[in-house]
Amino acid sequence: MLKYTIRRATIRDAATIAGHRIAMFRDMGQVPTAVLADKLLSESATALADLLRDGSYAGWLAIDANDGVIAGAGAHVKSQLPRISSDGFRVTAAPVPLVVNVYTEPEWRGQGIARALMKALMVWASARGCDRVVLHASDAARPLYVSLGFVPTNEMRWSPEHSDHSGVKDQ
Ligand SMILES: CC(C)(COP(=O)(O)OP(=O)(O)OC[C@H]1O[C@@H](n2cnc3c(N)ncnc32)[C@H](O)[C@@H]1OP(=O)(O)O)[C@@H](O)C(=O)NCCC(=O)NCCS
Repeated sequence: MLKYTIRRATIRDAATIAGHRIAMFRDMGQVPTAVLADKLLSESATALADLLRDGSYAGWLAIDANDGVIAGAGAHVKSQLPRISSDGFRVTAAPVPLVVNVYTEPEWRGQGIARALMKALMVWASARGCDRVVLHASDAARPLYVSLGFVPTNEMRWSPEHSDHSGVKDQ
C-alpha cells in the first residue's frame, strides 16, 4: 500500500513550497548563510503565492498519512516566442514549463516519491500540449531525470561579473 498520496498545490502551500526551495538549494550547497536563507525563504513565499494565483506555477505535493507534506515538485510556466515544435512538424508558442523546487524530505528518499511527482508533472505538461519540459539538474537528481527521458541540451550561460565591457555603452 502507498504510504503517501499526491495532490496539486494551492496558494495556501506557497510557504511550504518556499521551504522546499530553500532546503533543495541547501542540499545542493548553494545557500552560503542563514541570513540569505531567511531572505530567500520570505521572498520565495511571496513570489510563489503570486505565481500560484496567476496560474504560472503548477505544483504537486506528496502527503503522508498525517496530512504532512513530505515532498514536492513544481513547474514555472513561461510564455514563449513561436518556434518549430520538438517533432519538427508545426509552429508552436506553447509555454515551456521549467521544473523547479524538486525536493523530498531526507527520511522519505529512495522510495520513488520524486519519480511519482515528476510523472504527475509530465502527464500534466503533455495534456496541456507542451512540446517540451526543461530543468537544471542537481547531481542527486540527474539519474532520476535521465531515467524519465530527459536529455542534455544546448543551453549556455553568461554572467556579467566575468566580463570586461569597459568602453562599450549601454544603449
Ligand atoms: C533528488 C531527490 C529529489 C530525489 O528524491 P527521491 O524521492 O528520493 O527520489 P526517488 O525515490 O523517486 O528516486 C528516483 C531515482 O532517483 C535516483 N536517486 C534518488 N536519490 C538519489 C541520490 N541521493 N543519489 C543518486 N541518485 C538518486 C535514483 O536513480 C532513483 O532511481 P530508482 O527509482 O531506480 O532507485 C532528493 O534526493 C532530494 O530532495 N535531493 C535534494 C534536492 C535536490 O537535489 N533536488 C533536485 C533539484 S534538480
